[in-house]
Amino acid sequence: MKFEDVKTVGVLGGGIMGGGIAQTFCVAGYNVVVRDISEEAINATHEAMFNGKWGIKRSVELGKLKFDEAVAAMDRVTLTRYLEEMHNCDIVIEAIPEKLDLKQAVFAELDAAVKPEAIFASNTSGFVIEEVGRDVSESRKPLFIGMHYSNPVTTMKMCELIYTPLTSQETIDTCRQLAEATGKVVSMVKDTPGTYGFLLNRIFGAAAREARAIAEAGIATKEDIDKAMITGRNWPSGFFGSRGGIGREW
Ligand SMILES: NC(=O)c1ccc[n+]([C@@H]2O[C@H](COP(=O)([O-])OP(=O)(O)OC[C@H]3O[C@@H](n4cnc5c(N)ncnc54)[C@H](O)[C@@H]3O)[C@@H](O)[C@H]2O)c1
Repeated sequence: MKFEDVKTVGVLGGGIMGGGIAQTFCVAGYNVVVRDISEEAINATHEAMFNGKWGIKRSVELGKLKFDEAVAAMDRVTLTRYLEEMHNCDIVIEAIPEKLDLKQAVFAELDAAVKPEAIFASNTSGFVIEEVGRDVSESRKPLFIGMHYSNPVTTMKMCELIYTPLTSQETIDTCRQLAEATGKVVSMVKDTPGTYGFLLNRIFGAAAREARAIAEAGIATKEDIDKAMITGRNWPSGFFGSRGGIGREW
């Protein structure tokens, strides 16, 4: 799948990350199909994308989007419970809960439901990408990649691209161009068996472990450690108040 042929982006899971990924793509002019598993979840996705703290309405209030651009962006979004509606997506980005067996099962199901030339990307926080895509067909494996966004997706620019030994150069090039076309900065990361967390979460995890060891040894309080990182390194928040959302203990 070439970058210029991508018109429709599928997003699997409309939660914190999926909603942000969907919003980023619809604002950039792509058609977006978001699939979640219940009406409640779909309604929550719509509410977050439109009225949420980082939603489209807020972008209009801040002058980042004109009203008619916002309406057009939301018109490009289809929210559905039915996997079959993703059939014609050119790329599907998965953002369902961080459970390896769930992701493997859902990608196998998706493989049968989506056209064979579509790219599959996982937004896992750190599972080995080859393992996430273990159960897709051999012909899909060159189209399988990790696209790890940061939260909130609409404001954080980072997108790690994680390539396996089987990911094709065309898939890498297309995903890099898609990320850049939606205002993101890309770092390339080699998929590495036996690890968790790619680049960002591994480095953050190592620093967080060290911060905890310093606190446990009584060298400095948690408050003083956070204060040091925020004021001395310009981190937006410290370790002890900023661990939520990753879904994993360090
Ligand atoms: N939250 C973060 O800060 C963050 C940052 C980077 C990556 N991630 C990763 O992104 C992924 C999603 O995280 P999140 O925080 O958005 O989770 P979330 O719980 O907010 O959203 C997950 C959504 O997936 C839906 N879902 C569950 N099973 C599904 C299925 N079979 N098909 C379609 N939808 C399904 C749920 O109903 C829910 O709406 C995880 O792998 C997580 O590790 C999270």
